Amino acid sequence: MDRFHFFEEQAKWWDDVIGSVEDEKISMLFENMSIFKGDKIVDIGAGTGLLIPYLSKAVGSNGAVYALDFSPAMLREAKNKFGHLRNVGFICADVMEMPLPCLVNMAICNGCFPHFLDKIGALRAIFDALLPGGALVISHLSNKDEINQKHLEIGGEIAKDLIPNLSELEAMLRRVNFEPVVMFDEDVYFAKAAKS
Ligand SMILES: C[S@@+](CC[C@H](N)C(=O)[O-])C[C@H]1O[C@@H](n2cnc3c(N)ncnc32)[C@H](O)[C@@H]1O
Repeated sequence: MDRFHFFEEQAKWWDDVIGSVEDEKISMLFENMSIFKGDKIVDIGAGTGLLIPYLSKAVGSNGAVYALDFSPAMLREAKNKFGHLRNVGFICADVMEMPLPCLVNMAICNGCFPHFLDKIGALRAIFDALLPGGALVISHLSNKDEINQKHLEIGGEIAKDLIPNLSELEAMLRRVNFEPVVMFDEDVYFAKAAKS
């Protein structure tokens, strides 16, 4: 089964797969992201919307969150839960297309970067979608080894979707002219890089 059909099939029970997420891990992500009221943010590979309520609150009524995912089934679940939030839009597209209504302050890839087939191409598409001075966040709510182990257990195409270690990621980011700002791989995997 290819990645697209894997995520289409998983959408119905994705929230059960994720389980309950510890508040400390979410806090750790948001402390390091540094989001401001009024920011415009794209949540790439938004899935069923795990980050949407937090992002919606962080940007406030003058900001905007674009939840982008290539899986209609994932987005349907996200919309059912968070379609009422007035500062959130839903966009069904591949990261390589990025059809946003405007340039954004921040692009977030939580739990999805390893699944991009052409990682450098995806980083270039994200770079082009950011405002000057904008930032990219690549994060996971577990560390690299835990996530990679999970992907290997799932098998098939997903087993090939491994998270790069921080020095490999740094090299990829610099190749596309991103300047790494914060990177760590502890309880959570987190990298923030600026559009230089
Ligand atoms: C592991 S889930 C993470 C979902 C959510 N960000 C979270 O933290 O729960 C990965 C998501 O990335 C999406 N995805 C994978 N490859 C993609 C691509 N090339 N373009 C857009 N979305 C993609 C999948 O459909 C899936 O919803």
